[in-house]
Formats: sequence, structure tokens, C-alpha cells
Amino acid sequence: MLEKITGIKTQAESEVIKNLSDLEFFRIKYLSKKGLVSLLFDDFRNVPPEHKKEIGQGLNILKQEIQEKYNQLKVVLESKEEKSSLNDLTRPGYPISSGSRHPISIVRSEIIDVFARLGFLVSEGPEIEDDDHVFSRLNFAPEHPARDMQDTFYISRISEEDSNPDDILLRTHTSSVQVRVMQNQQPPFRTISPGRVFRNEAISARAHCIFHQVEGLYIDENVSFADLKQTLLYFARELFGKETQIRLRPSYFPFTEPSAEMDVSCRLCGGKGCNVCKYTGWLEVLGCGMVHPKVLEACNIDSKKYTGFAFGMGIERIAMLKYHVNDLRLYFENDIRFLDQFKTSL
Ligand code: DAH
Repeated sequence: MLEKITGIKTQAESEVIKNLSDLEFFRIKYLSKKGLVSLLFDDFRNVPPEHKKEIGQGLNILKQEIQEKYNQLKVVLESKEEKSSLNDLTRPGYPISSGSRHPISIVRSEIIDVFARLGFLVSEGPEIEDDDHVFSRLNFAPEHPARDMQDTFYISRISEEDSNPDDILLRTHTSSVQVRVMQNQQPPFRTISPGRVFRNEAISARAHCIFHQVEGLYIDENVSFADLKQTLLYFARELFGKETQIRLRPSYFPFTEPSAEMDVSCRLCGGKGCNVCKYTGWLEVLGCGMVHPKVLEACNIDSKKYTGFAFGMGIERIAMLKYHVNDLRLYFENDIRFLDQFKTSL
């Protein structure tokens, strides 16, 4: 047995190994499960007890030495092979797959572009807001349900029972930016405010606790509902196609009077009715209205001299309609297979 050990030792030492494939051959020959060293370990079972110690030690040293030779050669050969492949200027480059813009970013910039063509400038406001900008100055009554802890994420609330203008919260809509613009600028102005908003909602295919909105505001002398309608018609046709029709349904928002919701004709069925538009021919897109005189006054704008319109829309909703995505959660999972499909867009 000892002779066998020395035999294999000399054999292994004399092996000539020039590259990684020789090395792999070496590993299989000596160190694999059926390799020469393992076979010796199998034989070890038949060694008489009085020789076990001596032979056992010999075997372990042999295995260590061969393993050591393997490890050293591996390091040397790998770095050698890497260098030589770097020196090969004819080697084709590694494929670099280009990234893609997120669908929400694509739609966000499309919306901004459309309104920029009408002279709207982008304005932004903080995501962490106070009650004053999100609710009070927008004419939300103190007991309005949106102020409830169940709908709004509060960061600090002054009293458990009553709302307070100093309460700090995550904005539930981008309408808060309207207030900031009106407080800081003199009319006339046209502005759109894209941004993230937060609502205390259970996550599902149709709702998420974080999403994106774009708010629009136009204040000047003699701004009328007809201006609002024409602006929104232009927007709808730019975004959804020249054939698009719009319809305005009366609605209610505390900060606009009158208020409306806008639907666009369903592109898929051309208004005939399909499962996307739930056989109505129309898809709901945004909320809008004439800025309530109380809101103008609360923001130090003379409501006798100025009027204006406002509108607000969810970017995810528009993107869902544009790309026929039926589960909102897809926008937040960052699954490359989903995102890759937007490679060719803008
Ligand atoms: N802030 C509203 C919301 O989050 C959307 C909205 C509706 C904004 C009407 C407006 C508006 O500016 O006029 O649901």
C-alpha cells in the first residue's frame, strides 16, 4: 500500500500541465470520486489495523499535496488565460444589452411634452407635506374622509381627534403643488406638476399605496370652462391619437366648481364597446374643473379678477390604457421581462 502511495505521488508530480483543460484532466484523474486517490482510500478499508495509522497519514499527505498542486496551478493558469484573451484584439466584444426607460417615465415625459407645447411650465413640490397644502387651502372640510388616518399616511399628527393645518403627512395628491404655485407666483401662470403620491390603500391590481400623478393649473383673467375643454381635447388627441373623442361628466372635488371627470373614447373598439372599456366605449382618464373661488382666495389670488382651471391624472392609469397593462403592480416589480418590452418606446 505504501508503495502504491509513493508511486502515485511521483506520477502526480511528474504530470505536465500546460493549460486549464490539462488541469481538469489532472483533477479527474486524481481527485474526482473515481480518481486514483479516492481508489486508494477505498483500499484503505482492507489495511490491517496495526498499519492503519501509518498508511492513513501517508494517504492524507498525498491527497493534500495533489490538492495543493491543483490549487496553485488553477490560480496561475486562470490569470494567464484571462490575460491572453484580453490581448486578443479580434475577440468579439461581450454583448452589452441596453437598458430601457420605465413606462411610467416614458408616459410622464409624454404628458409633460404635450402641455409644454401649450406653454405649461413644470413645477414641483415636496412629498412630505402639511395638512394646510394638501387639504385646508384646497377647501377640504375639517371632517372630510380623505383626512382620515385610513386614507392618509401621517408622519405627525397634533391631535388624535381633529385635523390641524400643521399636521405632517405624505401628500395624497399633487394638487398640493397648485397651492404652493399660487402662493408664490402672481397670475397669469400655466403649470404642470408631476410627482409621487401616497395613499393608505391595500395593494391590488387596481390600487397601490404609492403612485404618480400629474397636476395641471392655469390661472389668468377670463379663463373659462371652454378653455379647459379645448386644452383637454388637445391633450387627449396628442396622447391617444387624432381620432380620440372626449366626454366630460359632472363630478365633485372640494377645490373645483364646477367639477368634471373626463373620459376618452376607447381606442381598442373605437367606441363600440369591448371588455377593456367594459362595453361602455369610454375610459375614465382624469378629474378637472374650474378652480374654486375659495381656493383662489385662500392662496391670496383675487377671485374677482382671476379665474382658472385645474386637472389631475394618474400616470399609471394613463400608462395602463396606453399599453393595455391590466395589473398596476407590474409597474413596481421591476421585472426585466416586463420592462424590456418598452425598449423601442421613446
Ligand atoms: N386631486 C385629485 C385626485 O387626486 C385629482 C384632481 C381632480 C385634480 C380635479 C385636480 C382637479 O386639479 O381639478 O383624485
